[in-house]
Amino acid sequence: MSNRPLAVVTGASDGMGKEFARELAAMGNDLLLTARRGYVLDSLKKELEAAYGISVETMPMDLSELENIRMLEEKIESSDRLLWLVNCAGFGAGEGVFPDVSADVETRMLLLHNVAPMRLCRAALIPMKINGRGFIINVASVAGFLASRGAVDYSATKAFLITFSRALQCDCAGTDVHVQAFCPGFVRTGFHDSETMKNSPLKDQVPGFMWDSAPRVVKKSIRAVQKRHFRRVVFIPTLFYRLITRIMSGRLLAPVRILLTGGQTR
Ligand SMILES: NC(=O)c1ccc[n+]([C@@H]2O[C@H](COP(=O)([O-])OP(=O)(O)OC[C@H]3O[C@@H](n4cnc5c(N)ncnc54)[C@H](OP(=O)(O)O)[C@@H]3O)[C@@H](O)[C@H]2O)c1
Repeated sequence: MSNRPLAVVTGASDGMGKEFARELAAMGNDLLLTARRGYVLDSLKKELEAAYGISVETMPMDLSELENIRMLEEKIESSDRLLWLVNCAGFGAGEGVFPDVSADVETRMLLLHNVAPMRLCRAALIPMKINGRGFIINVASVAGFLASRGAVDYSATKAFLITFSRALQCDCAGTDVHVQAFCPGFVRTGFHDSETMKNSPLKDQVPGFMWDSAPRVVKKSIRAVQKRHFRRVVFIPTLFYRLITRIMSGRLLAPVRILLTGGQTR
């Protein structure tokens, strides 16, 4: 029976989730990994067990289904070695403009981006509060600070994660449990090539300097949540996006904001 701490990562089969799994394995944590593609999780399990001598459990499942979320919740609630929870599973939808969107796809997005992290955080806090220690990273996005045409639920679900994480940290006062709403800008991953995003022109329109790499931002996120001083719940990994979010949410700079977005973002 292992006495290593346990890290649970959702969305671990690709992109940033896979990088979180690699980093947390390198730090000596056992892993519980989930995503829909079980065969990818199995090969990641082999890679990480061989490289770091840790043990990895995989739970292939669709986390936009309530019964699967419940199954993972039960597992998490009873994990007395739980130290890390990373809610990373997510997808983008070249959503279209309301009402010309698929209500079913939008509903799945709300379940995956919001209902699953909320329920998994609640479950994780049971062992974490008993142990008096833990780290929770909810992968949001700079999109959570913006409101733009054609991305209604993507922005709204990420905004929920930001406020949810800030409030959750208040509920953890007096413990050594730390919550982060991780808000990267554009990151090169499979996200932009997925079935739901492949027709979106975004990928070709965004200039190269606005893109970051998954290993780089993930390392920054882990370092930031473990900081002893000046730790922030809302963590934006690059200066450029910190400035953009300030401009986008600041009233004084409204004219700059309107100029930057062609008047679309309020
Ligand atoms: N890439 C960016 O520019 C960017 C920027 C800001 C924030 N984000 C956020 O970062 C997170 C990770 O995205 P990424 O860029 O790493 O994308 P990615 O490479 O496409 O990875 C997404 C992960 O989520 C899993 N997933 C998707 N739908 C799922 C479902 N229904 N049930 C269970 N797992 C599911 C995928 O695995 P399976 O397909 O195997 O299920 C995959 O492991 C997302 O929450 C995204 O919104 C991305």
